[in-house]
Parts: sequence; structure tokens; C-alpha cells
Amino acid sequence: MKIELIEKKLEAHATPLLLVPVLSNQMKFPAALDFLEAKLAPLPQQVFQSGDFSAKMNEKRLLYTSEGKIPRLVLMGLGKSEELNLEKVREFFGACFQTAREYRLGKVSIYWEESLVPEGKWAEFLVEAVSALEMPALKLGEWKTPGEDEPPPLEQVYLLLPDAPKSIRAWLEQAQKVAEGVNLARRMANLPANLLTPEGFVEKIRELKKQYGWKLEILDRKELEKRGFGALLAVARGSENPPYLAIATYHGPRAKKTVAVVGKGVTFDSGGISLKPSKNMEEMKYDMSGAAVALGTLVSVSATRLPLNLVAAFPLVENLPSGKATRPGDVVVSYSGQSIEVINTDAEGRLILADALSYVEKKYQPDCLVDLATLTGAVVVALGHLAAAVFASEEEHQKQLQQAAEISGERLWPLPLWDDYAELMKSPIADIRNISTQPGAGTITAAKFLQKFVEKTPWIHLDIAGTAYNMPEKNYRPKGPSGFGVRLLWYWLRNLAEKRPA
Ligand code: BES
Ligand code: MN
Ligand code: ZN
Repeated sequence: MKIELIEKKLEAHATPLLLVPVLSNQMKFPAALDFLEAKLAPLPQQVFQSGDFSAKMNEKRLLYTSEGKIPRLVLMGLGKSEELNLEKVREFFGACFQTAREYRLGKVSIYWEESLVPEGKWAEFLVEAVSALEMPALKLGEWKTPGEDEPPPLEQVYLLLPDAPKSIRAWLEQAQKVAEGVNLARRMANLPANLLTPEGFVEKIRELKKQYGWKLEILDRKELEKRGFGALLAVARGSENPPYLAIATYHGPRAKKTVAVVGKGVTFDSGGISLKPSKNMEEMKYDMSGAAVALGTLVSVSATRLPLNLVAAFPLVENLPSGKATRPGDVVVSYSGQSIEVINTDAEGRLILADALSYVEKKYQPDCLVDLATLTGAVVVALGHLAAAVFASEEEHQKQLQQAAEISGERLWPLPLWDDYAELMKSPIADIRNISTQPGAGTITAAKFLQKFVEKTPWIHLDIAGTAYNMPEKNYRPKGPSGFGVRLLWYWLRNLAEKRPA
């Protein structure tokens, strides 16, 4: 989608449809569009005075003009000014996308002004607005034969910003790059397991490496065996598709910090010998969402040239049953040297993450380790699809992440890491078992398992099983993979790199 800024000479602008936001508590037509007002039918004043239009979010009114350059205009409700925040911005721009689709237009113009930018935060406003336009525009049904009355894709958006500050062009460019990472994550997550194997994922990383100039380390099965990645390999045993651990590094300008992000990349999780029930098993093609989000974040961070180093690690496997598959009761030795009793082969995410976390900590020595994983069904019990669970070894990091989450609307909720929970992971024959001895607290016990594989680096774990693909549909976010975490991590890393408070 091309997004262009129009800051001056709005009178000269030609567009098939102009969308104009209206606040419900101060219904008025923007002064900067004065030249158009008298030519509209009905007149905006008539609409406002009629009482038929209350300017609630998603409420809209179509007006026509006798002015040839702008034949139609839609007054779009934005709700109350005191309730205007970045979530409302996303809803509004999502509604703009849906309106363009409704009128079957490939081109649309949207008016906005400084007084509508929450807290005057232009940079954040643009990232959220652009994402809200780009996310619904991404075609997720790419294997579907197009219907005959398919609306055209939205290819061109003009943003009419008469009072934008100087840096607006740079911020718009930045916003488009962040949104690119978000949609890359969603596109990857959306690929079914026959079209995206661990090897296919590695291919994609190689392709992007050329564009962004990352350093790349790829460990294949032979290397993994040689170096003792026993936990990761145990998960991969059942599949014909070989496992990989890929690690891509972005070196930012003037970088003072190195952050590592590890994403769970199970391209399909059947459960293995501890086979899952067939109902909804197809959803387990999304079990590489953590890796997809890590890749999307790496793209967003690289494209916007954030001044820090980012290491993104992708443990990639497929979890299938077979005559070679790991059995419940098998004992394996992890990269860290700790032995693991595999009680349940469906608790595979923690096994591959354990090895990846240990390796990245040792070899890359980051200042902070973050992992993202569709790790437990239990997190859906706890938080549903509206928030991800966050665990942090240091409170400061969690606070900073929460601040980023408030901007991106990707909600996080903390769960405890009390050591008593680790008692439930003790094995009589190995250093640790891979599931708890008792039902309950499945999200916490999984986190306690991971924690054993991080030695000393500050560590954050995000369990995104509930938010990676099943979030409620919105104008700005259709059903399917959400890309949850890309904007969140981008804001967090931006703030971390620039050392700003929020
Ligand atoms: N990938 C699943 C977790 C999951 C469940 C993600 C539902 C998205 C939706 C994970 O590998 C898994 O199977 N976890 C088990 C752990 C259990 C065996 C301790 C679970 O949550 O049931
Ligand atoms: Mn599983
Ligand atoms: Zn899984």
C-alpha cells in the first residue's frame, strides 16, 4: 500500500473518497477543509443538527459534492475527545480501511489533525494508524480462488495532515517499516505446515538476510548433534523434516546494548507420541508464531535502524509421532548439560527453547534475553485471548515492557516466578521433568522450566498461546494470525535504545 502525505494545498487534492473524523462531543467540520464545506450535500451542519448522527466510533454518513476533485466524503465517527487514545486511533483507521472496501475503492484519502493525535505523540500515532490500515489489507486467504465481486485491493492512501510537524515524513516512513514487520510475522504464521517447514523458515531468513545485511548462524541437524542440543533434537526426532537452529544478528549504529529474542518455531505441533486430540489440531500450524514474531521484530528493528544490536534466534522443528519419535519417559541431555525426563512429548516448546536460550546466552552474551512462545493452553484459561502472560526476572524490564504494551495495545499480564513452583518440576531420575507433577499453574510451571536454562542474564518470557492467532476480530485486525508482539517489542527496543522513559 502506498501512503502519501498531503500537508499543503488541500484544495488541489483529488480523491474518489475523503474520510473526515468527527468527535461526538464537538461535532464540527474541520476548518482546514472550509473550501469544501459549502459544496457538500447534505451540508455537514445539517447532518450535525439533525440528531441522526452522533459520531460514535464506526458510525458514518456519506455526503456528495458538486466539486469534481472530491466527489464523495464520509463523516466518520471518532467518539468522545476525552476518550481518544491509540486504541481508538487503530479502530478508526481500521474503519477507514473497511469503508474504502465498502465503496470498492482502491484509493482513499483520510483527514487528520494535530488536535486528534493522542498526547501529541505523532510517531506512535503513525505506527498505530499505518498498522491499522496495513493489517486488514494483508490477504490471508491467498490460496482461495478470488470471487467475482471481490473488492479491489486498497493500493493508495493519502493522509491529509495540514498541521503536521517537521519530522512527519521520517515518522511515516518508520511507521511503514514497523507495519512491514508486523505483516511479515502474520504472513509467516499463516503458512500451513506443508508450505512452511523448518527448512522453509530458514530459507526465508536467508532471503531477508540479503536485504538487511544480518549476520547469520545456521546449525543443522549434524551441527546440533555434534554440539549436544539434546532437548531440541528430541522434539525433532519424529519428523522427516530436519530441525534447525537459526540465529540472525542485526548490528545497529552506535549500539550500546544487545538484546536477544528467541521465538518458538514449531512448524506443526501434533503433540508427538503424546498425540493431541484431532479437534482443532489444525491450529497447531500456528505453533511457530513466536518465531514469526521474532522475525517480524528483527525486520522492523533493522528497517528502522534502531541503535542497538538485536540477536534473533529461531529453534525450528516439527513435532510428529513416528517409529523414531521421542517417547514419554525418555531422558535426554540438554545443551546446558542438565538432563530432562520427557514425561509428555506435547510439552515440546520448552524443550527447544531451553536449548536455544542456553546457547544464545552463552555464545552471544546479550544484556537481556526475551523469549516468545505459544507455550501453554493454560494461558488461555488464565487470560483468554486478550492478554499474553509476561514473566520477568527483573521488575524494571517488565515495567518498560508494560509501557510499550500500553502504546501498542498488546496487553501483558504478569504471573509469578516463585520457586515453590519449581518443586513441581522435579524428577527422581533426571535434573528436571518437562511437565508438572500436578495439574494447575501450567503457564507458570512452563516458565519455571525455561528459567532453569537461563544462567544469569535478565530474562523475559512471553506466553502468547492465547494472543498469537485467536484474538477477537476488529476492523483493524481480521481473524487469524495477529503478529502479537512485533509492535510491542519494537516500541520497547526503541525506548531501550534511546533510553527514554516511555
Ligand atoms: N503448542 C502448545 C500450546 C498451545 C495450546 C498453543 C493451545 C496454542 C493453543 C504446547 O506445545 C502444548 O501442547 N502445551 C501443552 C503442555 C502440557 C502437555 C503440559 C498444553 O498446554 O496442553
Ligand atoms: Mn505441544
Ligand atoms: Zn507446542
